[in-house]
Amino acid sequence: MITRPGDATDLHELSGAVRTPFSAEATAADVLAGLDLHGRRYLVTGGGSGIGAETALALAGAGADVTVGVRDPERVRSALDPLLRDGAGRIDARPLDLSDLGSVHRFTDGWEGSLDGVVANAGVMALPERRLSAVGWEMQLATNHLGHFALLVGLHEHLAAADGARVVTVSSTAHLRSPFHFEDPQFAVRPYDRWAAYAQSKTADVLLAVGVAGRWADVGVTANSLMPGWITTGLQRHLDDDTLRAMGAMDDDGNRIEQPSFKTPAQGAATSTLLVASPSVDGVTGRYFEDNQEAAVLDDGTGHDRGVARYALDPGNAERLWELSAGYVS
Ligand SMILES: NC(=O)c1ccc[n+]([C@@H]2O[C@H](COP(=O)([O-])OP(=O)(O)OC[C@H]3O[C@@H](n4cnc5c(N)ncnc54)[C@H](OP(=O)(O)O)[C@@H]3O)[C@@H](O)[C@H]2O)c1
Repeated sequence: MITRPGDATDLHELSGAVRTPFSAEATAADVLAGLDLHGRRYLVTGGGSGIGAETALALAGAGADVTVGVRDPERVRSALDPLLRDGAGRIDARPLDLSDLGSVHRFTDGWEGSLDGVVANAGVMALPERRLSAVGWEMQLATNHLGHFALLVGLHEHLAAADGARVVTVSSTAHLRSPFHFEDPQFAVRPYDRWAAYAQSKTADVLLAVGVAGRWADVGVTANSLMPGWITTGLQRHLDDDTLRAMGAMDDDGNRIEQPSFKTPAQGAATSTLLVASPSVDGVTGRYFEDNQEAAVLDDGTGHDRGVARYALDPGNAERLWELSAGYVS
């Protein structure tokens, strides 16, 4: 765990987990209320829908210059532009396919100037069959982790050029279902399991933030990860009706339904937005949040639906994953 003497992280050491003034119901706009982000530049991957779109809109709403990395920039531009209010910053949509290393490199090669924060938000969940990217990576690992790893490495100098840039990786409670499987991350040997693949990729999201926190502290970059909550979005597109019903997300007639515990997309975007831009977490790094607060660390994730598994915060695992990922993307 990385701490920097003299910053807000010291509060953590004195009083336990990091606490912020924001409740689980707060929206992304709530956590930015009163902040002026004019002059700040942020990148949100998967910023064309769901939680990512709300994150981008909230940051731009506070005046920031936001780039969304998306597969269909034209569609996203025409969807988001009308939602920007007068006085808001800008949202620029640029092509990015995280499962395609060439696309990631074109994106990072084209970036100019400093970058104040990246929200690694794009993701896919529970693909029913084992699908492979063009270079043979299991698709959930490719999209959720390896693409983001290559993206961040490619943007390092731009993050280092900012004054205290922040990296945020959007993980999930699903990470409690599996540590990272270093022996067979691509399901080349073990039978493919869509939930194990998603869980492993979400553990990788937490470990990536820990890795960035450890490796890039020297250039002033901080990094944290989070669970956004349960939010009805396109993420559930690969789930069948029985699974959705078991989750309370579909009624007997096949209609999608909400539960009191579900969040709106604007609430789901709050923790990402808090971590990338709020002064209430200045200097905090290498940690995992949910409902706008630092989560409890669990020795064993089995049976839990909150908290962060110790294996996901382990610096040794983070270092091992960094080396493995560097080998894949080189
Ligand atoms: N919703 C929840 O309940 C929940 C819970 C826990 C964690 N999360 C996490 O929250 C994040 C955002 O998900 P969401 O719920 O907002 O779902 P979403 O609306 O489906 O957003 C996911 C985004 O990822 C993008 N994406 C997928 N594959 C990509 C690729 N190869 N390259 C670039 N972008 C790609 C999608 O773009 P396209 O439009 O081009 O497909 C989409 O904009 C994910 O990381 C997810 O794991 C969500």
